[in-house]
Order: sequence, then C-alpha cells, then structure tokens
Amino acid sequence: MNIQRIVLSISFVCLFTFCAAQCKLQPESQISLKTAFENKFLIGVAMNANQITGLDSIGDSVIIGNFNSIVAENCMKSEMIQPVEGKFDFSLADQFVKFGESHKMFIVGHTLVWHSQVPKWFFTDDKGLEVSREVLIERIHKHISTLVGRYKGRVKGWDVVNEAINDDGSYRASPFYRIIGKDFIKLAFQFAHEADPDAQLYYNDYNMALGGKREGVIKMVEELKREGIRIDAIGMQSHIGLYSPTVGEFEKSILAFSSLGVKVMMTELDLSVLPSPWENTGANVSDRVAYQEKMNPYKNGVSVEKIAEWEKVYSDYFKLFIKHQDKISRVTLWGLTDADSWKNDWPIRGRTDYPLLFDRNHKAKPIVAKIIKMITTPSEM
Ligand code: GLA
Repeated sequence: MNIQRIVLSISFVCLFTFCAAQCKLQPESQISLKTAFENKFLIGVAMNANQITGLDSIGDSVIIGNFNSIVAENCMKSEMIQPVEGKFDFSLADQFVKFGESHKMFIVGHTLVWHSQVPKWFFTDDKGLEVSREVLIERIHKHISTLVGRYKGRVKGWDVVNEAINDDGSYRASPFYRIIGKDFIKLAFQFAHEADPDAQLYYNDYNMALGGKREGVIKMVEELKREGIRIDAIGMQSHIGLYSPTVGEFEKSILAFSSLGVKVMMTELDLSVLPSPWENTGANVSDRVAYQEKMNPYKNGVSVEKIAEWEKVYSDYFKLFIKHQDKISRVTLWGLTDADSWKNDWPIRGRTDYPLLFDRNHKAKPIVAKIIKMITTPSEM
C-alpha cells in the first residue's frame, strides 16, 4: 500500500467514526426544521432590517440553521425601494439577496404592487392631482421592470400583487383599481414576467379561508389563466388566531386554490395568542384599535393552559400542511422571534404577543420539536 492509500484509508475511517458518533449524539428531534421539511416544502422566514444587516447576528445563525427560504419583511416594499420617483434605494434589498445567496436559500421578493406602504407620489402628479391611467401603468411598469430586472435569476419568486380582493370577493377600491381598473393585476403579472421570465409569480392575500375571499380570488386567478398570464402560486398569508379561521375552512381554500392548477403557499404564518377585537383575525394593516389593558393579558408570560391551546392549534395547522404537501410549495413564518413580530403592535399597539416559533431569546419553542416529530415519527402524533 502506498502512502497515499494509507492516508486515504485513515481519513475514511476517521470520517466514518465521526459521522457515526454524530448520528448517535443527535436524537431525531434535534434535526433542524429545514432538514425535516427537505422533501416536503420550503420552510421560510421573513427577515427584518437588523437581521439583514447582521446586527442581530444570533438571529442570523438561527435563520441559517432552520430555514431554506427568506422573504424581506419590509425592504422591498415600494415606499422603501422607490421612496422618490426614479430614485431607487437598493441598499438593504441588495444585502438581503446576498444573504440568501450565500446560504443557498430560495429568495422571495415581497411585494411589487400593494396599496399599502406605497409612497404618495405613485398616484399623484407634481400638482398633487391623481395621475391618469396611462401614467400609473407606466409607473407600475418602471417599478416592476427595475426591481425584478435587478434581481433577475436571483430572486426566485415574487409576490406580484398583494391584497387586491376584499373579504366579500369584490375588488378592493385601491388607487390601483380606481385608476386602472382590474387590469392592473394582469399588467403587473405581465411586467414581472417580462422582467424575469424564469421567476415564479404569486398572488398574495390575507383572510384567505373566508368563503367570499376564496371565491373572489378563484375568479380572479381563473381569469388570469384564461388570458394566458403566468401565475405559479397563491399565497395564503396565514395570520391566524386561536379561534379563527377554523382548520376546516383553511383546508377548503388549500383544496380550491390547488385545483386551479397552481401551488399554494403559506406566506406570512403567525398564530397570535392574544384576544382579537374582531371575529376574523385578518391583516388589514390600516385597521387599528385603541389599547385596553384587558386586551393585553400576557405581558408577563403566558399560562401553561394557554400555551397548550396555542401548541394544539399550531400542530393542527402543520398536520394540515403535511397532509397537503403535494399542493404546498412553501410555508413561511412572518418573523423569527416573538420580539420581531408585527403582532405586538397590530391591531392594538403596545401588546405582548407570542405568535412565532422562536422566543424572545432566540430559543426554539417546544412546538418546533413537536413539528419536527410529526415528520420523523408520524405514528406518535
Ligand atoms: C401584510 C403584508 C406584509 C406585512 C403584514 C404586516 O400581511 O403583506 O408585508 O406588512 O401585512 O406586517
């Protein structure tokens, strides 16, 4: 045996012993979320500015260890990326995309056309008057082609249109709709497709388990498909509560959307433990309710009973996602830790909520091991 062979054999034995020890040391429940979901669907997380810039370095390592897809919570929204007409600010978005690439993640762009977090100039001329249909179409075109074009081949999927349908299924009377009519949706998808023909394109909305919204979205997507417009998936935001929606209604939407020949994604999952001022949990970001002490019951921690209730609901949803894994392409959490969540301030400012999978110390909550176990040892669930 020559020296090279001896070195090779020793290395092989060492590697084998190391791997065997690792396997033994690592109980199944310790594998990460992304490993557990590897052959099912992508598991993603929304990143905030502190995570994108590396200020929250602990958060970054938790993201790298657990998720294989990322979406930017805010930095790609129009008010951030094009605050002034023609002046694009890509500083954060560039860092976000670089982060995803360096960790081989599926990068999602959020969001191209949305009536909220949009700068005022988008709809007005220099006299402050509403612009014409032609001007608005041109502005949408420029916005989409610049943004999608910059990240062509790197951002793999885009939330093209966000929240265009009301809960009753009618079109939301946003400035986009008022000025252009429902064609703004079709045009946005066309512009995005032109800018990156390989990118996946999505429609995204909240309260998607409501019958009225479900029907409205189905009609809209059917129309897009009839006209030959590329649409790859429907995003159900999934800002859910303990009592609403029901898993049954949610499942109806997964089935109905998937039967349109598109994938279904849970794009902004969080499960609030707090009382909701309304029957539906929803996510109309402009809806606000005044603070009341009784609406903030868990300032100093959540009771064991409430946590058990919360875990049961999360488990029921993940069981549903696993059951329909053939229809689902991605489940994304809207934030990493409870401290990062918008739910602490919506719809009532200044509350303490616990909607995510990681606690305020970046520690995985027990639900994470339970979710992983659903996959590694399904018989025990
Ligand atoms: C909606 C949007 C998100 C985010 C949440 C609230 O769901 O799609 O971008 O703004 O509201 O944080």
